[in-house]
Amino acid sequence: MKQSFLCQILELKALGESVFTITIKRPQAMGEVRPGQFFQLKANQLPYLRRPISISEITEQTLSFTIIAKGEGTKGFQRLKAGDQLDVLGPLGNSYHIDAANRRILLIGAGIGVPPQAVLAEALAAQGNAHITVQLGFKDVPYMVERFTALTDDVIVASESGKGDYRGYVVDLTQCALQTEIYDIVYVCGPPIVIEKVAKLCERSNTKVQLLMEERMACGIGACMVCACKVKDENSAEGFWYKRVCSDGPVFWGSEVVFDE
Ligand SMILES: Cc1cc2nc3c(=O)[nH]c(=O)nc-3n(C[C@H](O)[C@H](O)[C@H](O)COP(=O)(O)OP(=O)(O)OC[C@H]3O[C@@H](n4cnc5c(N)ncnc54)[C@H](O)[C@@H]3O)c2cc1C
Ligand code: FES
Repeated sequence: MKQSFLCQILELKALGESVFTITIKRPQAMGEVRPGQFFQLKANQLPYLRRPISISEITEQTLSFTIIAKGEGTKGFQRLKAGDQLDVLGPLGNSYHIDAANRRILLIGAGIGVPPQAVLAEALAAQGNAHITVQLGFKDVPYMVERFTALTDDVIVASESGKGDYRGYVVDLTQCALQTEIYDIVYVCGPPIVIEKVAKLCERSNTKVQLLMEERMACGIGACMVCACKVKDENSAEGFWYKRVCSDGPVFWGSEVVFDE
């Protein structure tokens, strides 16, 4: 049974017009929280269902979530303030596979896929033995870049607006990197189109890749199949089956996911 905790908001910090970070006090009863995991968030004063949000920072005392206000639920979170209560269900899902044997790492985050990559960068940097290249993609104004710069070796920022190192899509940078460098593993999180393109680029260059899928969710605990993800399955007549992003994922190996043409 997944547990939910009512936590006090310590700070709500704006990172941009519609991007903000909520930091909560971490309950002592909450177990380990690993890179790639997420929580289902709800504020009792808001009339919305829970929204799945990844962790963007973990400390002994606190947990942070970095959110882009898009629809009703996430805009509601933006109106909360320090002292309010946040109902957090989790940690949910599996987590990124981290192996000290991987020395050359490419980490990609785009849009709402940027925040969870910061927690991953922290865990990889703590191992201290890998060269970590980061590629970040934004629509307009970049955020959280300094955090990655402090933790990793190279950070390249792409944005559609031209605010960054490269005007365009982050996958253009990925394509170039995979043609010129060899990586032991790639980690990507972002919109479905970015996930799919990176998975296919990695397949072509024979590079291991982990995909953090931010699918639309409902229950978030494996009960409804709203978040189904098509995966290869040699034992089924069709050659594929479905896994639940919320409970079997949200992290999958690129080699197991089927992308429909
Ligand atoms: C495992 C996981 C981790 C996530 N982590 C983060 C995070 O760290 N920060 C963050 O800002 N967001 C994150 N998201 C996405 C976030 O949950 C959605 O943006 C949110 O559910 C949409 O709620 P809303 O109230 O803004 O929009 P709604 O009013 O529900 O919908 C508004 C728009 O958002 C679209 N939308 C709905 N769900 C998603 C989704 N899952 N992904 C993309 N677009 C969606 C809808 O199609 C619609 O166009 C994550 C999602 C998942 C599944
Ligand atoms: S959201 Fe219900 S099974 Fe995943």
